[in-house]
Amino acid sequence: MLHFVETGQGDPVVLLHAFPVDSALWAAQRHPIAQAGFRVITPDLPGFGGSRLAEAEPSVDVMADEVVGVLDHLGITRAVVGGLSMGGYVTMALLRRHPDRLRAIALVDTKGDADPPAAAANRHAVAAAVEAAGSTSDLAETMLPNLLGATTRAERPEVVAAVRRWITAQPPAAVAWAQRAMAARPGSLEDIAAFGRPVLVLHGAEDTISPAADARAMVEAARLGGSPTRLVEVPAAGHLTAVEAPEPVTQALLDWLGTL
Ligand code: MLT
Repeated sequence: MLHFVETGQGDPVVLLHAFPVDSALWAAQRHPIAQAGFRVITPDLPGFGGSRLAEAEPSVDVMADEVVGVLDHLGITRAVVGGLSMGGYVTMALLRRHPDRLRAIALVDTKGDADPPAAAANRHAVAAAVEAAGSTSDLAETMLPNLLGATTRAERPEVVAAVRRWITAQPPAAVAWAQRAMAARPGSLEDIAAFGRPVLVLHGAEDTISPAADARAMVEAARLGGSPTRLVEVPAAGHLTAVEAPEPVTQALLDWLGTL
């Protein structure tokens, strides 16, 4: 089973982390959300943080099934699930495979489209390079300028250093497996439209990996399907909003959870 951190009591809220970090991404949100009366569960996705790598072929479906394994273990029938970027792709796999386990979803700095062929090919190249290097240090340097917004990079060196540490701590095998899983993921806008329950779409104004157009496409899909849908743009934050703008992200999640 996946390693996870559980905090608080009340309605369950599961938060899924981005690539290539672990559940520490949600460290600033765990306690304030728990204090507001929720049971907050933050799993490490397969191979990251304290979780073992899956033996199965790389797939976001495998990650989703493993998250359901945590819910089963905790006796949770339905949860609010929020995912940032790769965590969002896993949330969309949950929509396809286990929609009955979802009370509401938060899609944070993520996108509903599959990868175009060139992006998928690039993921396979990155996976091979990380395996060959046996290290994620080069990956950290390549990804940091994209993961973090211009404001964070200019003004918050401690956040840059923390994210660099998180990336270099992840095993190359996990990074390669996750890249191949994301390369194979299908488009999910139809699955978002089919959900019909509450959807929060949140993104950083300086996010270049999942820019505003991706957020708008998910909002349109959710509204088309009749989901009560909320869109929040977080100013002065890039792709990793949860660490770049922790208080606004926590507040946006709490405001939305209060409406459910
Ligand atoms: C992430 O933050 O999870 C990744 O940047 C997602 C991606 O590579 O599409």
